[in-house]
Order: sequence, then structure tokens, then C-alpha cells
Amino acid sequence: MSFEQINSFGNLRHLITLEGLHKSHVELIIERARRYLTAVGEPPPRADTLRGQTVANLFFEASTRTRASFEIAAKRLSADVLNLDVNMSSRAKGESIIDTIFTLEAMQVDIFVVRDAGPGIPEMIARQVAPHVCVLNAGESDISHPTQGLLDLMTIMLHKGDPGKLTVAIVGDIRHSRVARSAHRALSTCGVGELRLTGPAELLPDDHEFAGAVRATDLAEGIAGADVVMALRLQKERFVQLSEIPDPQEYFRRYGLTEDRLGVAKADAIVMHPGPMNRGVEIESAVADGPRSVIREQVTNGLAIRMAVLELVHVHVRRARGERR
Ligand code: CP
Repeated sequence: MSFEQINSFGNLRHLITLEGLHKSHVELIIERARRYLTAVGEPPPRADTLRGQTVANLFFEASTRTRASFEIAAKRLSADVLNLDVNMSSRAKGESIIDTIFTLEAMQVDIFVVRDAGPGIPEMIARQVAPHVCVLNAGESDISHPTQGLLDLMTIMLHKGDPGKLTVAIVGDIRHSRVARSAHRALSTCGVGELRLTGPAELLPDDHEFAGAVRATDLAEGIAGADVVMALRLQKERFVQLSEIPDPQEYFRRYGLTEDRLGVAKADAIVMHPGPMNRGVEIESAVADGPRSVIREQVTNGLAIRMAVLELVHVHVRRARGERR
């Protein structure tokens, strides 16, 4: 069964990974997303674009930002939206995820938004759905979180312009991070100046990963002169053994972002965090809520990115159904 993210007309059909996505597609999504940003105080943008299409949010792993923003994005584009309560679904009775998908497909769901802790689930679904149906990866194990990579790149570009001129530092538990992997892919596709990965040696990724990135175990070395500093939480749910999780106080002492430690970054450096944050572990509140922080803008941009992605894939649904509009 085929799995192509881009259909034969050159339209985005699925968004499973940023791997292999051309720079022009990344730029197109970000350009579309920029049109969904409104000034503070203005009413949010709404459109009829997805009227008649149904979006199902299937989150088999916890989420606040991604789930809420896909739901709001789909509603602002006039889609019918189903948020499956997975704890009350028949998966709890042993139904397989693909049988859940086929069941919802029989109710004419057109676009599935899927988060799962297991690797390969979004692609497995994309290979088996009907030809008009689209699948969007909303977070897959420690592997991929494509809309997060896009919103992070968008946020960086809005503040700093051409990523080719920038030093971007990611700090924390990179080994277990799908956010870092998708940020690396998005930044590499668009040509980042320098990407630095900083954290305890045991939380840095394997050597064959993150091609081109510079590694450091010392925080000051990792963020010196950086234009962008992105903090990541310790993803405790993905540690194989609880005993491997660093002590939070010791971790903060060595890797926590504080105003003082950020003094070695560029004076106008921005601070990012994908959320959820653990204040006092990977970041102090004075930084998270301070003037360098763009963390809430990341959330706003995430909604715009998800509207843009839904807008783009809805074209595939329409064409594959033979609709003219
Ligand atoms: N950044 C992110 O994926 O947040 P949620 O887990 O809250 O969706």
C-alpha cells in the first residue's frame, strides 16, 4: 500500500514526517500560516474552507497544545470535528487502532490527526486509509512531531529572519525528543547556520543522528553566542528505567536556563520551549515569563501552522472525492 505525503498533483496529502519534504513545501506551509496570524485584540480568522469535511482527533498520548490547537484550527476552518475520548473508546476493549480508524472512516472522517507513543503508527494508518483520506502526525514516540518542527521554524523566522545566519541551541533531553528531531529536520531543510545540542552525555542522541549538529555537555559552551535557545523538558515517560532520570535539582543546577546563564547568549537571543514546561527544572520562571521568551508565541504560531496544514490537505480530500470547488 502506498504512502506518499505529496500526491500526484503536488498537493500535500499526509504530514507524517518532515523527512523528505522539500524546502518549497515547508516555506509554503509557513507562508500560509502567516496569513492566519492576527494582531492582538482582533477577532481570530475564520473561513469556510473545510465545510463538509470531518476531522477526527485521536490522541492516544497526553496533549494540551497540539490537541487543542488542531481542534480550534479545524473549527475555525468550519470542519466537523470529532475528539475521540480514547479512554472511553473501544480500544479499551481490545480493538486495534486500525479497526478504530476503519470504523471512523465508515462515518466519513476525511482527516485523522493522530498522536501515539508507539513508533510507526501514523505511517501505518496512512498506508491503509481510503484514497481521499489524509493523516496528520500529531506526535509519534520520540521520532517525529512535524507540526511542532514547523511552528518552531516559523517562530524563529518571524523573530530572526533567515535561519542560515543563525546559531540555534537546543538544551536538555534531546535523546528522547521528537521535538528536537523535527526541529533539526525543519532547520536543516531551510539551511540553519549552526545547530548546537547541549545536555548530559547520556541525554544526547546517538552519533549517527542530527547530522551537522555540534554537541556540548557544558551549558555555557552550548549557548555561547546563540541567537535562539530552546529548552526541552526531561521526557520521563520515555526513559527505559526510572533510575536513569536525573535528579531535578542537580539537573537545574547544571542545565536549567536562568537569566544569569543566558548572559553568554546573544543580547537579543530568544528563548523557546515546546511545552509542557517544568519550571525550576529545565527553565526558571524569570526566563519563561521574561522579555526573551517567545513560548506563548510558539503556541499562537502552532494554531496558525495547523490551520495551514489542514487548509493544504483539504485540497487533496476535495480532488480525490471529485469535488470541483
Ligand atoms: N508541544 C507539545 O506537543 O505539547 P502538547 O504535548 O501539550 O501537545
